[in-house]
Amino acid sequence: MSVAPPQLPAALPHSMALGELTEVHPLSANEHWSRSSVIYQIYPRSFRDLNGDGIGDLPGITAELHHLAALGVDAVWLSPFFTSPQRDAGYDVSDYCDVDPLFGTLADFDALVSRAAVLNLRVIVDLVPNHCSSEHPLFAAALAAPAGSTERELFIFRDGLGASGELPPNDWESHFGGSAWTRTADADGGPGQWYLHLFDSSQPDFNWDSPRVHAEFERILRFWLDRGVDGFRVDVAHALVKAQGLPNWGGRADGGSSKGFPGHRAPMFGQPALHDIYRQWRKVLAEYGQDKILCAEANVDPLDRLADWVRPDEMHQAFNFPYLNAEFSAPSLRAVVDASLGSLGRVGAPSTWVLSNHDVVRHVSRLGLDGQLPRGGDGIGPGDVQPNLELGRRRAAASSLFMLGLPGGAYLYQGEELGLPDHTTLDHGHRQDPTFGRTGGERIGRDGCRVPLPWRAEDTNVGFSSEGTPWLPFPKSWRALARDVQAADDRSHLALYTGALALRRDLRLGAGSLAWAERYCSDSSLAYLNGNTLVVLNTSGAPMDLPAGDVLIRSDSSAAPTDQLNSGETIWLSPVLEVG
Ligand code: NOJ
Ligand code: CA
Repeated sequence: MSVAPPQLPAALPHSMALGELTEVHPLSANEHWSRSSVIYQIYPRSFRDLNGDGIGDLPGITAELHHLAALGVDAVWLSPFFTSPQRDAGYDVSDYCDVDPLFGTLADFDALVSRAAVLNLRVIVDLVPNHCSSEHPLFAAALAAPAGSTERELFIFRDGLGASGELPPNDWESHFGGSAWTRTADADGGPGQWYLHLFDSSQPDFNWDSPRVHAEFERILRFWLDRGVDGFRVDVAHALVKAQGLPNWGGRADGGSSKGFPGHRAPMFGQPALHDIYRQWRKVLAEYGQDKILCAEANVDPLDRLADWVRPDEMHQAFNFPYLNAEFSAPSLRAVVDASLGSLGRVGAPSTWVLSNHDVVRHVSRLGLDGQLPRGGDGIGPGDVQPNLELGRRRAAASSLFMLGLPGGAYLYQGEELGLPDHTTLDHGHRQDPTFGRTGGERIGRDGCRVPLPWRAEDTNVGFSSEGTPWLPFPKSWRALARDVQAADDRSHLALYTGALALRRDLRLGAGSLAWAERYCSDSSLAYLNGNTLVVLNTSGAPMDLPAGDVLIRSDSSAAPTDQLNSGETIWLSPVLEVG
């Protein structure tokens, strides 16, 4: 890929009109595509069902991919579509090198990659190296083999505590609730050893102290690179290596919080040997050229520690969960933007930005609740306080437009371009997330953000599936949010995303820089200059004055053209240059 050096401005030109400028992020000369990319997450089972069984599939993705090219993203990341019993929606893999029949075949995957190439979209796949499915042949062999066997070395088997081994080997809890250990039965049917699973009992953790596990995952990387993928999103990239001796920790693997684990070292997170694994994978990717990427799903706090995952010889990107978790408030957003650009910039890495994914309440619903999410952020159920969707959608539009102007990479979750909320009144009978079952319904789980996409308002199942019953039902109100309705409306949420992504590309904002325009920054507003574009967000309850300039785009499409910014609104301006 050709690399043109960015134009570094000799001096920031707008200081008169915008007040003092606080430069946080100078331009970088590194123009690797991923540094400014917009990557769209496809959740295959909910994207588009082409064969009518009610579950989205790879041919469905291929058939609709042109809509994502039209939206203006650079790449798609596909959540797992590999062979799996689907106990955790595919994050329980039983064959890493094949497609689950639910989603299609390897030939369907090849067709998807070819179609993406025609549309100029890159394809990232999900790699799940912390654990596999209990139905993976390697785990089946380990279960069938005796304690101490080479088969068991690939996983984390231990004898139990107590007089007859009846207690789990330590106090670690599963991320989905309950103990992180399950006891096995020996060949004679008697109680045997325990195995570790940081997630569901159907997801045994690999033992990354074993060189055979390293070799197996290098084989898997090459398998998909040979098929033409552009990179990997690495699931729970902070957890593969566990501290020697598996010391007691006192609770849930993430410290019981959806906001990252506490700063001190948890024995199952952030172990130093992890980084050797990613350095080795980076070398494997380099065999295929410099364009292939690794992105860490590492829920690590603080951002200074996350920076260790994206040092120059490790991953290219890491998800920015502190940004996703920031409140809709000027001080919170400014603090997390400063910390992100500062910490990641210190190791020469770009920041990424994200507002939604398949594990969290969608930002329309989150922002429509004033204050804390019910149940610690695990989902909203019919018995909980319901979000104000009008407020949520207005704030979501403002948040998205604020995010898309920032320098760095952005991740979008399917459906956010339509302004979809969570399904917050889903009947419990439909729930499939193991979190709901493992906690006896105390935690609602993540089904609400995984509801299939509405494509065409007048079609059966709103165009998701022409025949079958969708695996999760749609809220009735989603017909009005269908993509075809929004595509015909230049004031829709979809039009906002499409317009913003086109401008972001034309103005090269992803590869740009950030300086706070202090005159317009306060406890209830933020303004930053990226190149010659001024982005202003108003989180206050009242309109605010704007500097003079040409409006490029604003998040409230019904706003009258004025020199004021509405409450809960973001605008992109080309400010009038003051000379002298
Ligand atoms: C993170 C994934 O995003 C989530 O969906 C999954 O349940 C866990 N990792 C376990 O693989
Ligand atoms: Ca299907």
